[in-house]
Amino acid sequence: MSDSLPLLLRAARGESVERPPVWMMRQAGRYMEVYRKLRDQHPSFRERSENPDLSYEISMQPFRAFKPDGVILFSDILTPLPGMGIDFDIVESKGPLIAEPIRTESQIKALRDLEPKQSLPFVGEVLERLRESVGNQAAVLGFVGAPWTLAAYVVEGKSSKNYAVIKSMAFREPDVLHKLLNHFAKSIANYLRYQIDSGAQVVQMFDSWAGQLSPTDYDKFAAPYQKQVVDLVKETHPDTPMILYISGSAGVLERMGKTGVDIVSLDWTVDMADGCSRLPKEIGIQGNVDPGILFGSPEAIRERIIDTVKKAHGRRHILNLGHGILPGTPEENARVFFETGKSVHKLTN
Ligand code: CP3
Repeated sequence: MSDSLPLLLRAARGESVERPPVWMMRQAGRYMEVYRKLRDQHPSFRERSENPDLSYEISMQPFRAFKPDGVILFSDILTPLPGMGIDFDIVESKGPLIAEPIRTESQIKALRDLEPKQSLPFVGEVLERLRESVGNQAAVLGFVGAPWTLAAYVVEGKSSKNYAVIKSMAFREPDVLHKLLNHFAKSIANYLRYQIDSGAQVVQMFDSWAGQLSPTDYDKFAAPYQKQVVDLVKETHPDTPMILYISGSAGVLERMGKTGVDIVSLDWTVDMADGCSRLPKEIGIQGNVDPGILFGSPEAIRERIIDTVKKAHGRRHILNLGHGILPGTPEENARVFFETGKSVHKLTN
């Protein structure tokens, strides 16, 4: 068993596997007591994610606790921004803050191309160490934010409810926004290549806020840049499976399947059976248990996992939540999720 490639990697590549692999978006973080303790000692998010010892340690916390089939780098989608000349911070209870939001063409022209080796050496170091530590017991996952979602942060300057600032740019000065999206697409593709070269075996692109676009605008401002990233990465790294996640994706599911990614990650507002039938057979599905179920009883969690896995039967499936695990989730329930996930083939047969 342990000398074959990690289950998640084999499944993501479309090989037939003994059970669906399981991991969780945001599986490292605030719901874990060990994380909160470490956060008290190192209150800066930038430090926790950019100091390689801390980032490595936090990435390993859920692996030690639950042995998921995937170990995701502890970092953030905003981590590459300073390497392009955009400073940010993540402030407790406020979320991400961009020091100087990007709103003009001259600011976009002044952005630097990302040189991941120079500006993000800690990411390479952590991925290398994770690979060495987990061996074939789990796959190491890298990730990036997609151009639209990164643009939403840097233009708005913070998390937004209605995206008025970036939408005013999109519908008044679309060429300016396209320049920014294009800049991000190239830099993000290079960043993914660097992550893969450093040890990431499967990569996920989060276009978390692309679900805020109408499908017509998704086709203009999100999909072409997702595709540009996928095409650039596939040019050099054709064998690395790529996953695409969007929050609130029900209106654009079919479109997600056309970006060239190998796996589409569903949120929980789409029934797994419907999601499977709306995407071509050769595309794998990830998801899609409601993170809110993890506030429920162990029976409720087990039932929902069984239902999800049954509905995805016959498909390439990676069991996951429909979005990140929520702060305040009882750790015991995260354990139920992983344990049930790993024995589900015995329960559904
Ligand atoms: O999955 C993992 O365990 C890897 C870690 C990870 C983080 N952020 C750590 C983090 C990942 C994959 C991300 C991606 C990310 N970051 C996304 C895409 C995923 C999604 O949720 O849609 C987005 C949109 C961001 C931007 C971001 N970073 C937000 C909105 C916040 C604040 C959220 C909040 O609830 O306060 C962050 C901060 C952040 N990134 C935290 C963690 C664990 C929480 C802050 C902390 O622990 O101090």
